This record gives sequence, structure tokens and C-alpha cells, in this order.
Amino acid sequence: MPDPRPTPVPTSIDVSGVPRHVAIVMDGNGRWAQRQGLPRTVGHGAGEESLLDTTYGALSLGVKVLTVYAFSTENWRRPVDEVRYLMNFNSGLLQRRSHELHDQGVRITFSGRRDWRVPKKVLHNMEASSELTRKNKVMTLNIAFNYGGRAEIVDAVARLVADKVPASKVDEKAIRSRLYHPELSDPDLVIRTSGEFRISNFLLWEMAYSELVFTEVLWPDFRREHLFEAVEEFQQRERRYGGLDK
Ligand code: IPE
Ligand code: IPE
Ligand code: MG
Repeated sequence: MPDPRPTPVPTSIDVSGVPRHVAIVMDGNGRWAQRQGLPRTVGHGAGEESLLDTTYGALSLGVKVLTVYAFSTENWRRPVDEVRYLMNFNSGLLQRRSHELHDQGVRITFSGRRDWRVPKKVLHNMEASSELTRKNKVMTLNIAFNYGGRAEIVDAVARLVADKVPASKVDEKAIRSRLYHPELSDPDLVIRTSGEFRISNFLLWEMAYSELVFTEVLWPDFRREHLFEAVEEFQQRERRYGGLDK
């Protein structure tokens, strides 16, 4: 079981320069299981401890927003049994873990399409966990579920049209304000596990200037120490936003 108590942050981390928003592509569950001769779904199950431990690590660091990619709009292409497992697993995880996250002051939010394919029971648990944790202020755990970066932009554009915004008023602010969670700010640091060097339709708009850290660690092996290492790497980077010096 992950220990919810704050861990001392390594002295190599500058606590005044911790990324405000960290986003993670939690990848490599299937390979983790297959390497042990187990069904892929065992890997998804094992990812639960990684998620909780990483969340506690983020709390120890003072991260304000942790966005995690749990199910993509493209993951529906997987075999029906795996999709069913993932729906039940994620729904169950919310039921099992919402209260302990609530006790830590974590607010749970979701990014993704709610009105497309997600079973009612899952939607119910999503709503229950956001409602329970609605007023929490310590950190936001934003779960990207049935999420696609392109779908998010498509949905924002559809809302622009529905709002009858004239072409002359279409600017970045108009689009941003129609994304799923514009108030969460853009991720400063995006981590992808499992040695894949791609974005896979995650936060396309929001990660325009994020620092990217890739690690070989498979998600079920990922723990808060790996988050700390990624933050150390982040702190070596110089962010320029297209300009010159800071
Ligand atoms: C990430 O692990 C979890 C989801 C995409 C739901 P994968 O299931 O993609 O695991 P690999 O990449 O096949 O090892
Ligand atoms: C991205 O991982 C989606 C999630 C982690 C939920 P995938 O495993 O689906 O991405 P690809 O297929 O390797 O690009
Ligand atoms: Mg994968």
C-alpha cells in the first residue's frame, strides 16, 4: 500500500521551483504484465499503486495539479474485454480511493468526453468522486478519461460555433476558454513512461510549451521517487517560450 504520509523531498530538488502542473502518460501496463507471462489487464491493476504513490509524491512536492492519462479516445480500438476491464477498473478505483484522496485534500476532476460511449455506472462514479472532493484545495488530480487532445479541440470549436462567436472574435483566448479545464493552467512538466517517445493525443493544446521527460520505467513500476527524478530533470531545463533569456 502506498504511504500517504508526506515523504521528505530530496535536497537536490529546489522546492521553490517545483512545477505547478505535472501531467503523466501512464504507459507500459500491458508490457509489464506480458513480461511476467501475465494477462495485460494485470498490468492495469498494478498501476493503481503507482497512481496513488505518485499522487502522494506530488502532494509532498507541493504540486498543485496532477493530470494523468487513464483512457484515450483511441483506446476504444482495443479488444472488447480489455476495454471492459479498463472501464470497470477505473470506475472501481474511484470508489476504492476517493475517500483517502479526499482525506488528503485532493480535488478530483476529469477531462474528456462524457457524452460519448462511457457507461452510466462509470459516469456515476466520476460524478460522485468529483462531488465528494469538490471543495478540496491542496491539489487537483485531473483524470484524463475518454480523453483525446484532438477531440478536446473539436469540442471547443463546436462550442465556439454553438456560442455564435464571429470569426473576427476567434482567438487563442476564445478557444482556450472552451477547453475542458482552462482554469487548471498548462502543464509545466509532462512525463511519459515506458520508453515511448510520442504524445499519443494527450493535451495537444495545453502542452505547447511543456517540458517533456521520457523514462524507460513501465507505469506499474513507477513510484514517487521517479517523479522526484523527473522534477530534478525539469529543474535543469531553461524555458524560453520562443523568446531569448528568461
Ligand atoms: C497504458 O498501458 C494504459 C492504457 C493505455 C489504458 P498500455 O495498456 O498501453 O500498456 P502497453 O503500452 O501496451 O505496454
Ligand atoms: C496513451 O497510451 C494513452 C494512455 C496512457 C491512456 P497508448 O498506449 O494508448 O498510446 P500508443 O498506442 O502507444 O500511442
Ligand atoms: Mg501503451
